[in-house]
Amino acid sequence: MSVNYAGILWNKQKKIYDTILFVFVLGYLGLYIVFTGLYNPELTAETMIIRATATLALLLLHIILAIGPLARLNSKFLPLLYNRRHLGVTMFLVALVHGVFSIMQFHSLGSKNPLISLFTSNGSYNSLVEFPFQVLGFFALMILFLMAATSHDFWLKNLSPKVWKGLHMMVYLAYALIIMHVMLGVVQLESSPFIYGGLMLGLMIIIALHFGSSIKSGRGLALTSKGYYYACNLEDIKDDCAKVVTLNGENIAIFKYDGKLSAISNVCKHQNGPLGEGKVIDGCVTCPWHGYQYEPHNGTSPPPFTEKVATYLLKLDGEKVFVDPKPQPEGTALEPITFES
Ligand code: HEM
Ligand code: HEM
Ligand code: FES
Repeated sequence: MSVNYAGILWNKQKKIYDTILFVFVLGYLGLYIVFTGLYNPELTAETMIIRATATLALLLLHIILAIGPLARLNSKFLPLLYNRRHLGVTMFLVALVHGVFSIMQFHSLGSKNPLISLFTSNGSYNSLVEFPFQVLGFFALMILFLMAATSHDFWLKNLSPKVWKGLHMMVYLAYALIIMHVMLGVVQLESSPFIYGGLMLGLMIIIALHFGSSIKSGRGLALTSKGYYYACNLEDIKDDCAKVVTLNGENIAIFKYDGKLSAISNVCKHQNGPLGEGKVIDGCVTCPWHGYQYEPHNGTSPPPFTEKVATYLLKLDGEKVFVDPKPQPEGTALEPITFES
C-alpha cells in the first residue's frame, strides 16, 4: 500500500467506461422498445420488458466472455478487462429484471408460490425437448448472483484467490445453462428464429476467440529450460515502466528500473488495478488507480503495509526477455535480472 493513498487518473477512465455502459444499456432498451412498438405492436409491455432485458443480458454476457481472450490476443483490450466488474454486475441486474418479470408474468397469477410454480408447472424433467427451460435460467441467474454478490472488496480479501477464481470460472457453466435455456425456450414457445441464430453466432465467436487466444498463449518460444516463454525485447519496456504479457492465463507485468528487470503480478491487491500501467516511483511499483505500492523484486508493500503479490522468474537472452508464467508464492523475493544499459 502507499503512503499517499488517493483516487487518481484511472478513476476518471473508470467513470468514462461506466458512462459508456450506462448509455449503451439505456440506448439498447430504448431502441428495442421503439422497434417492437413499430413492428410488433401487439406485444404487451411485460413481454417487451422480458425480451428486451433477456437479449440485452445475453449480449452483455457475450461481451464479458469475449474480453478475456481479446485482452490475451491484443493488450489494447486490457483496459476492458480491468473494468469488467461493473459490466458483470450490470449484466446480472439486467438478467434479474428478466427473471423477476418472467416469474411475475408466468408463475405468480395462480394459487401456488411463484418459485414452486417455476419448478413444477412443467414437469417434463425426463424429456430433452420439453424440459422446463425456465429452471435452467433460474440456476444460471443464481450463479451470476453469487459472482455479483461476492464482487465487493470484502470478499476479494476474504475468499482465497483460488476460490474466487473458481467462482468466476462458473460463468462458463452459467453460459451453458443460458444456451440451453434459450434454445429450449425458442423450440417450446416457437419464438423468433433470429434469437436462435444470434445465439449460435455468439457461441461460435466466443469459441473462436478462446481457441485463438489459447493458441497465442502457448506459442511462446521455449528457452534453455522448460517453462520459459518469450515475452518481449528489452527495448520494448520504457525505463521505470512495464510491459504486460498474458501467458497461461496469468497477467504478468515485467518492470525495467535502475538497469534491472523484475516481474510481478499485474493485478493490484486493492481493487485489481493494472500494476503494469503504473510506474516505479521511489523504487516501488505504484498502482495507477489508488497508489498502492510494491517492491518490484519481491512484490511486497513497503512497511508498515503488508500487501503481497506473486512474482515471476525471468531470463534474459541477449535482447530477448523470457518469463516463466508459473507464479511464485506471493511475496517471494527473486534476484532481479541486471543488464548493461
Ligand atoms: C455476473 C457478474 C460477472 C461475470 C459474468 C464475470 C465473468 C468473468 C469471466 C468470464 C471470467 C474469466 C474470464 C477470462 O479470464 O477470460 C472472470 C474472471 C475474473 N473476474 Fe469476473 N465476472 C463477473 C463479476 C466480476 C466482478 C464483480 C469482478 C470484480 C471484482 C470481476 C473481476 C474478475 C477478475 C479480476 C477475473 C480474473 C480472475 C483470474 O483470472 O484470476 N468479475 N469473470
Ligand atoms: C429466474 C430466471 C429466469 C426465468 C424464470 C426465465 C424465464 C424466461 C421465459 C419465460 C422466457 C420466454 C419469454 C418470451 O419469449 O416471452 C425466457 C426467454 C429468454 N431468456 Fe430467460 N429466464 C431466466 C433467466 C435468464 C437468464 C439468466 C438469462 C441470461 C441471459 C436469460 C436469457 C433469456 C433469453 C435470451 C430469452 C429469449 C428472449 C426472446 O425470445 O427474445 N434468461 N426466459
Ligand atoms: S491501488 Fe487501488 S487498485 Fe491498486
